[in-house]
Amino acid sequence: MTSVGRPVKRIEGRAKVLGKARFAAEYPIRGLVYAAPVLSTIPKGRVTGFDLAAAQAAPGVLAVITHLNAPKLPYLPQTPTLSADPKIGHPLRALQDDRVLFDRQYVAVVVADTLERAEAAAALVKVTYQAEPAALSFAAEKRRAFAPNEARLDPQPENPSDYQRGDPDAGMVKAAARIDATYVVPTEHHNPIEPHATIAVWSPAGTLTLYDKSQWPVSVRSQVARAFGLQAGSVRVLAPFVGGGFGGAGRAWPHVILTALVARAVKRPVKFSLSREQMYGTVGFRPHTEQRVRLGADAGGKLLSLVHEATAQTSTYEEYAEATLHPARMLYACDNVRTTYRLVGMNVSTPTFMRGPGEATGAFALESAMDELAVRLNLDPVELRLRNHAEADPEKKLPWSSKSLRQCYADGAERIGWTRRTPAPGSMRDGRLLVGLGMATAVYPANRTASSAKVLLLADGSAVVHSSSSDMGPGTYTSMAQVAADALGLDVSRVRVEIGDTEYPFAPVQGGSQMMASLGPAVMLSAQEARRKAVVLALSDRRSPLYGLDPAGVTVQGGRLFAAGDPSRGETYAALLARLKVASVEGHQTSGPGSEKDRYSFWSFGAHFVEVTVDPDVLETRVRRVVSSLAVGRVINPRIAHSQALGGVIGGLGMALLEETRRDDRYGRVTNANLSEYLVPVNADVPRLEPAYVEEVEPYLNPLGGKGLGELPIVGVAAAVANAVYHATGKRVRDLPIGIEKLL
Ligand code: MOS
Repeated sequence: MTSVGRPVKRIEGRAKVLGKARFAAEYPIRGLVYAAPVLSTIPKGRVTGFDLAAAQAAPGVLAVITHLNAPKLPYLPQTPTLSADPKIGHPLRALQDDRVLFDRQYVAVVVADTLERAEAAAALVKVTYQAEPAALSFAAEKRRAFAPNEARLDPQPENPSDYQRGDPDAGMVKAAARIDATYVVPTEHHNPIEPHATIAVWSPAGTLTLYDKSQWPVSVRSQVARAFGLQAGSVRVLAPFVGGGFGGAGRAWPHVILTALVARAVKRPVKFSLSREQMYGTVGFRPHTEQRVRLGADAGGKLLSLVHEATAQTSTYEEYAEATLHPARMLYACDNVRTTYRLVGMNVSTPTFMRGPGEATGAFALESAMDELAVRLNLDPVELRLRNHAEADPEKKLPWSSKSLRQCYADGAERIGWTRRTPAPGSMRDGRLLVGLGMATAVYPANRTASSAKVLLLADGSAVVHSSSSDMGPGTYTSMAQVAADALGLDVSRVRVEIGDTEYPFAPVQGGSQMMASLGPAVMLSAQEARRKAVVLALSDRRSPLYGLDPAGVTVQGGRLFAAGDPSRGETYAALLARLKVASVEGHQTSGPGSEKDRYSFWSFGAHFVEVTVDPDVLETRVRRVVSSLAVGRVINPRIAHSQALGGVIGGLGMALLEETRRDDRYGRVTNANLSEYLVPVNADVPRLEPAYVEEVEPYLNPLGGKGLGELPIVGVAAAVANAVYHATGKRVRDLPIGIEKLL
């Protein structure tokens, strides 16, 4: 009875619902004191002075730290392979100088014996500034858009700022139907249930322990060590439980280093826990992006030209660029394609990955434009996509490792009842409500990065898996237990997983939907090694019933080793290890991609079908059903994969209908920095969601056969909703979110 492929319940679920799974802010550290930041009130300029007297005299205050008294940190160059930071620029170095680069930047930190006293004293700090003109309006600044410099660093960047194949201009001239439209995805903020928090504890010997919210503990260790000029081994980062991330905890943000800095200054363990409002400050966001898409097709719908241009905001100190245009280059079989990516430097903090970073933004534009083209040609939207289906990757000129997109279209169309759709906008009704059916394609790369794991078979016959990987919610605890259980021949209940600690072997960022494909094989190989060693112990021990057998003739099931030809001849791991007085048997393996990377193009594909109703009187859009058909290779755990799909689709519904960070262009301040005005879907907004995974064999990405499924489910949802709204109303909304005012 194997465990992989079965709907095993989350092994850490009980600890989570009982509140026993500790998040970063929840560690009861002896002698802990609290940091509260003072935030800039201008978006650009210099700090000219402080009046700290009142804060310093306030009760319980241990220190008020500003750039004038903060120690200067060495900030050694980063190790690029251990950093998720943009390649151009450097992270904000908080309290290292007088520069203000965005509103709500840290300009001072108050440390006090309670959080309330720290916050009260922080409110007493008076700061004077020399303000400078700031770049705050995207509309005004886009004149100064520039090509990201990343292309200069890397001759073959994943995301070139300029790309062309064929002759898109000539293709456009030949086209019988053309679309030329501009789409806007606004700034969006991650709103995980757990806000960012860091506790920093220095030992007398000068080593540092951090409890941090992180999707990549090893990177935080590296970043912090480099900032302080320490050996990586002098820093330990613990993040065993993470309450959601969505990409927002992929980097070591300034508050992490700041917490360590003030803890060293006050010689006490310090906690810095961001408020919900501060979550809209210095911990990343999905960048505002404007995209122009031009499509040209012949009368039969064959694409003759595809031109996709994107302009996105970044900060003035880092160039954050994302894969917005990747779908345009690889999704459709079109010979003539041009993509152009530009950035606009603004006085905001640096944007970052947010679920489907780039692809979700790009797919909104591309898949809306494809719908517009279908309307123009009077073609069914699914049929238009089938006529442009790419049989091989047209960008890399490589075969797909696996692709089941046709099945996804067919399965999704079948389940939503696509044949009942009458093409004319406004032609379907339910009573007084307008009904719309829309669809879009989902696409996301199937990534894999080299990873290491350790698996220990213990004397009691149970096993433990060690990895530094985080589990921000996708079920890494459970899926790794399943993989180890099968490789060891154990029941999954006998496998413990200990992760989120930099003392354990290397794992990459829990981002890019890659953890299963990356860490899974390392866990499998480590478990196989431990099992092999245990078998060898049995075969070479005269007291074992298996003594002298050929290792190939030994099977392990339920923790019992036995002769394949004679199941009565055997013993358990526990009996074997107890008799030999062996405390543990260890497997420790590394596994990463090989030459298949150069032979195949690896992507997950899917399709979303959405049914909406629009109230013709108040123009409110309600989503009735979302049918998603997803192809991700082998599904390791259907229960958890279902949960991933639900989360992704709900994120897509938020993107489509609700989410938008508003900034006041005069001051650069977020005006809805809270969960009552930054809208995310609540249960009442979430209709029948019917995600399903189609059967697919993925032979090449990794030995487990699974492709990434974390981000795929959000990609395309916003376009599918917008397309359904068009079908219901005849109104094409090209700037998200689709509020009532956009349908007037
Ligand atoms: Mo995901 S946005 O790569 O955490």
